This record gives sequence, structure tokens and C-alpha cells, in this order.
Amino acid sequence: MRKPRKMTAEETAPYIWELPPDLYGRWGDPTKAADAPPVEMTPIDWPQLFGNANPVEIEVGFGKGLFLITSATAHPERNYFGIEIVRKYQLYAATRIAGRRMPNVKTSCADAKLVLDRFVPPGSVSVVHVFFPDPWWKTRHKKRLLFTPEFAALVHRVLIPGGRLHFVTDVQDYFEWVTGTLVATPGFRPLPPPQESAPTHDLDYLTNFERKFRQQGLPIYRSLYEKV
Ligand SMILES: C[S@@+](CC[C@H](N)C(=O)[O-])C[C@H]1O[C@@H](n2cnc3c(N)ncnc32)[C@H](O)[C@@H]1O
Repeated sequence: MRKPRKMTAEETAPYIWELPPDLYGRWGDPTKAADAPPVEMTPIDWPQLFGNANPVEIEVGFGKGLFLITSATAHPERNYFGIEIVRKYQLYAATRIAGRRMPNVKTSCADAKLVLDRFVPPGSVSVVHVFFPDPWWKTRHKKRLLFTPEFAALVHRVLIPGGRLHFVTDVQDYFEWVTGTLVATPGFRPLPPPQESAPTHDLDYLTNFERKFRQQGLPIYRSLYEKV
């Protein structure tokens, strides 16, 4: 991907959803936010945020934003909300999105668990995408693991009936763990996952990580679940 040109805060602002400032003030580091005490928070009003009532898809951990950009370009009739815990990636993606003036994409910088738990209205999202989450191999990092039973329950809560969870990883153990977690979470049923197709250009991949692993010839594990 080419380096996007620098943009001002005013130019990127329409593509950024910020945690309420008092939350940042209180908790500072968004990686710590999930442990914060409960406070009164206003749920996101999707039609107000996007200016229309189109279906909303969420991508958790969007990294450099390839999926958000390609999907939102292909589907202007859908809205995309990305949650990324690392500010520099959020700003990188927001800059690229601002450069393309994509009104159907918003990005946020926060722990996805916090946003799903406290800001996303229940039964309001048509798809949650989770692509190549960090496996966090070391025992001392295990608490950073994204896909826990609590996370599965949060995803279930925010999906509309018939809404979908789309999960992709290069790590077989992680895939099996997520499969087991979802089997144990009431209210999900597996569907056939989307198939891989041969790329037609250099960026014709689901995400940057998919591109890297497929170019290395590594296996990719895909799954799709429906909320029943
Ligand atoms: C391995 S990278 C994959 C990036 C992208 N999905 C891709 O496939 O190219 C995982 C991403 O998830 C983000 N992430 C990790 N934990 C997160 C959390 N709790 N909430 C939101 N984003 C998170 C990381 O900062 C990183 O950008």
C-alpha cells in the first residue's frame, strides 16, 4: 500500500468516532479501558452517525484498513465501523479513508470489548468481522486474547437476528479454540464460510495479513456463524 499523504485533524475527523472525552480523561490508555469501572454512556446512534439507516458491519482489529476500504467501496449501501486498539493504525486507515471521502466508514480507537459492551446497541449490527487476531502465545499475554467466551457473548448481543460473525485466522489452534467457544455459546449456528478466490491484483485480498500469509502459501482457516 502506498503511504497516504498527511492530512489535518479536520480532514480525518468525519471518519473518526472518538470515545467520549471524559472516558479518555479517566482511563487514558484505551488498552486499559475494558477494566474501567462502569459509568453512564450513550449508545451509538447508527443512523445519526452515518446519516442513513443502512445495515452496519463492524470490523474488530482492522489494522491498516484494507478490508474496510475495499468492502465499503464495493458496498456503498452498507455502513462499516472499525474498532482498532492501536491509535497509529486507526489514524493510518482514517487518513486513507478520508483521502477517498468514504461516508460509509467510521473508525474508532479503543478496546473492541469496551465498545461492544458499552456503546453498541444490542441487536443493531448485521455482521461482525474478526480477521487474524493476535494469538498472544505467551502465558503472560493471555489476558489480551480477543476471542474469549465473553467476547463471543458480546458479539451475539450486538448482532441482529440472522446477523453473522465472520472469523478468519492463520493459526489452527486459535481456530479450534474459537470453534469450541462458539459451539458452547448458545445462539450461533455455523454456515459455509466464504471461499478463497485467486487475486486479480496486488491488493485483491481480504486484509493485509491475509495477503502476507497467502503469498507465503500458508493455510488460512475461515468460519462464518449466524445468530439464531
Ligand atoms: C494481527 S493484526 C491483524 C490486522 C488486520 N485484521 C489484518 O488482517 O490485516 C490484529 C489487529 O487487532 C488489533 N487488536 C488487538 N486487540 C484488539 C482489541 N481488543 N480491540 C481492537 N483491536 C484489537 C491489533 O492492534 C492489530 O491491529
